[in-house]
Amino acid sequence: MTATGRKLPAHFLSYSIVPYMFWTIGPAVTIIGRHAKPNRTPGNCLPMASRTDASPTTDTLPHADLARRFAATRRLSLDLAAPLSDADASAQSMADASPAKWHLAHTTWFFETFVLRDHAPGYHVFDTRYPYLFNSYYEAEGPRHTRARRGLLTRPSLDEVRVWRAHVDAALQSALPDLPRAAHMLVELGIQHEQQHQELLLTDIKHLFAQNPLGPAVWDETAFASEVAQFSAVSGSASEAAGAMRWVKGAEGIVPIGHAADGFAFDCELPQFSALLTPHALASRPVTNGEWQAFIADGGYHTPSLWLSDGWAWVEAEGIDAPLYWREGRQFTLAGWQPIDPAAPVAHISFYEADAFASWAGARLPTEFEWEAAAAALDPLGGQQLDVAGPAQPEAAGGDTGLQQMFGSVWEWTGSAYRPYPGFRPAPGAVGEYNGKFMSGQFVLRGGSCATPRGHVRASYRNFFYPHQRWQFTGVRLAKDL
Ligand SMILES: [Fe+2]
Repeated sequence: MTATGRKLPAHFLSYSIVPYMFWTIGPAVTIIGRHAKPNRTPGNCLPMASRTDASPTTDTLPHADLARRFAATRRLSLDLAAPLSDADASAQSMADASPAKWHLAHTTWFFETFVLRDHAPGYHVFDTRYPYLFNSYYEAEGPRHTRARRGLLTRPSLDEVRVWRAHVDAALQSALPDLPRAAHMLVELGIQHEQQHQELLLTDIKHLFAQNPLGPAVWDETAFASEVAQFSAVSGSASEAAGAMRWVKGAEGIVPIGHAADGFAFDCELPQFSALLTPHALASRPVTNGEWQAFIADGGYHTPSLWLSDGWAWVEAEGIDAPLYWREGRQFTLAGWQPIDPAAPVAHISFYEADAFASWAGARLPTEFEWEAAAAALDPLGGQQLDVAGPAQPEAAGGDTGLQQMFGSVWEWTGSAYRPYPGFRPAPGAVGEYNGKFMSGQFVLRGGSCATPRGHVRASYRNFFYPHQRWQFTGVRLAKDL
């Protein structure tokens, strides 16, 4: 049964993968496929896509549109990895991260396995050894290579993975017009999945390059400047100054929470339910680097009374005294070491740091419901999100009215534990394995980041990470009670 109590189609029960997303069409909720959470350490019901102009509003997915978006998504992944050598793309900096080559291969494995193998008559798996290497953690797909040892996979080469990608792309495009509707939905699922891995590819390669004393840049400063100019042109923002932070009164009373519109969503966004919001206000924009520097200067990392007990233990054990990529007044970016822009949103902070900052500021973290109620009327396609390959880096908010940067720039930690919504019912067995089993010990983040492919996030989208993790573009927006 699905989370809404609908019986799963028999053909889905035959899949040896786990479901984690739903497609809603009108009032109906239909499970369309399953897939393990993306390869982020116990990860995220991570990114999911928002409704876009391309989202279907009928029960038929247009082949041409699906083919176009499939091709564009596959192209962007290659573009993101284009500056990397085989060595760059094969190394793994930590167990939480995966090599870029692995991301390129794993997303290909997804399409080959769940679309072509299962739905395209006559398709033969490109290399029968690859599923063992590039299955993430689908128990039902059999044994797999250990996650923490993905960096040891010097073979197949990056070029060989690219050849595999091209083979799968051509086969899928050829098969697409004749595939059953269920397979079209799996293609959509694969697109959403690959978008998640595009963000991971960027943050994982950033973490890898940050370990190198040479401080290599994935893209040079010219590309960085170009990316900044592009965002400024789109948003009208000025990177040199953020508007003053203001308090924006939030909705209060009973509000709807959860996905209810047409379009793609993950099961953790369902079912929609009513939540009670008490009087509160949200900050007009995320906390900036300049404000974080003031926190540091005021001894924020040396004042245990500001910290949760677990957070203070983490600070002491890890020697934490600044956001992840800050060192000697500079920050590491995908364009190498760069000055810290005091007006830009602070990024790469943990939940513990976000909570301590809020305590220092006399505020608190928003709940995920306060955030969603505020975001419901905003455009999820707006803000600084990933459009083309380049050195994604959060930039300053430009406006000084209303809520700024709710979508894009940085994922915003909330004070809400990642737990099921009322009525959430994971299906029995493997069918309900993924989102349900990750609902322990993690906190919800909202809104997407500068590395989230545009069109992938929406108001109801729930990302989640463990409270110490900070290699994603994670920031914070303050809230307070009224
Ligand atoms: Fe994945």
